[in-house]
Amino acid sequence: MNGKSVLVTGAGGFIGSHLTEALVHAGARVRALVHYNSRSDWGHLESLDPRAREALEVVAGDLRDPFYVAEAAKGVEVIFHLAALIPIPYSYRAPQEYVDTNVRGTLNVLEAARRHGTSRVLHTSTSETYGTALYTPIDEKHPLQAQSPYSASKIGADKLAESYSCSFGTPVVTVRPFNTYGPRQSARAFLPTVLSQALTLDVVRVGSLEPVRDMNYVQDTVDGLLRAAAAPGVEGQVLNLGSGRGVRMAELLDLAIQATGRRVRVEHDPRRVRPEKSEVMQLICDASRARAALGWQPRVTLEEGVARTASWIADHLPDYKPNLYNV
Ligand SMILES: NC(=O)c1ccc[n+]([C@@H]2O[C@H](COP(=O)([O-])OP(=O)(O)OC[C@H]3O[C@@H](n4cnc5c(N)ncnc54)[C@H](O)[C@@H]3O)[C@@H](O)[C@H]2O)c1
Repeated sequence: MNGKSVLVTGAGGFIGSHLTEALVHAGARVRALVHYNSRSDWGHLESLDPRAREALEVVAGDLRDPFYVAEAAKGVEVIFHLAALIPIPYSYRAPQEYVDTNVRGTLNVLEAARRHGTSRVLHTSTSETYGTALYTPIDEKHPLQAQSPYSASKIGADKLAESYSCSFGTPVVTVRPFNTYGPRQSARAFLPTVLSQALTLDVVRVGSLEPVRDMNYVQDTVDGLLRAAAAPGVEGQVLNLGSGRGVRMAELLDLAIQATGRRVRVEHDPRRVRPEKSEVMQLICDASRARAALGWQPRVTLEEGVARTASWIADHLPDYKPNLYNV
């Protein structure tokens, strides 16, 4: 990526901020697209070290505006498209916003790339598109099942990426990370919500502890995205990124509480349980394709990653509202 000009959408978000940081360190010229607000708040880019921040060209806008996206994508060689609405519970409440942001927003990115002749587009999908595993581990041939409006919107986005590759030869690579966690993740996700509660309260409130997930430390996911941007011959492909290790939420809860060193009570909170058919019961990744095509493999163990995340959250407790259910 040294010397390459890149655009990162969702740069102020959890994964996007880590990716942006890694791109700056790799010597890329980064245009970082953050969601517009009038406070000039750049989200998690605010916490980058000042030298990394100064190296960025930060632009603030909205993915849903095709004119804005076309302008932001002008003159870059590679687009990393991460911006999305991602909390599943909020997608039950605001499905239209998910279609506008995730489907139409992705269309805007693809169309801008087509018009400008961008050399590569990294489109970020999600393991949620697979729904409850029909077989494990899940490879890229597994059927897509839309068990939530979020998943449906990401499937729509993935299919637009596929169609732009087939119809116009747009050099798009779809990377499908399994659950990603680490420093800077918001409490809409299981680990930060458990860790922030365990570090501050005597009780930890959780939803269903039955689902199984394949948990990946954010630096490993970022490494996969970077490799997919540089690897030859992967245009038009979908590439899973995941460890292949399934962990039940009950086990993850124990690991998280242990990492805090606190003694807490666990309470079931029915508000946090998804509708039965919407809950994705099992996601375990087969990443053979990414291993072969990118030489990618995760490096951070779950135990190490949870410990690092717990330590980061302990240092950033004012960023969390552990008394609230963060949808
Ligand atoms: N976190 C995970 O476990 C995970 C797993 C698989 C895939 N993904 C995918 O990775 C990507 C990044 O996820 P994340 O966990 O960093 O989420 P995040 O919510 O932290 O980041 C998403 C970013 O997109 C921005 N955004 C939302 N709407 C926008 C709009 N209309 N215009 C411009 N920007 C907008 C948000 O401001 C936010 O900074 C998403 O595409 C998500 O589907 C995440």
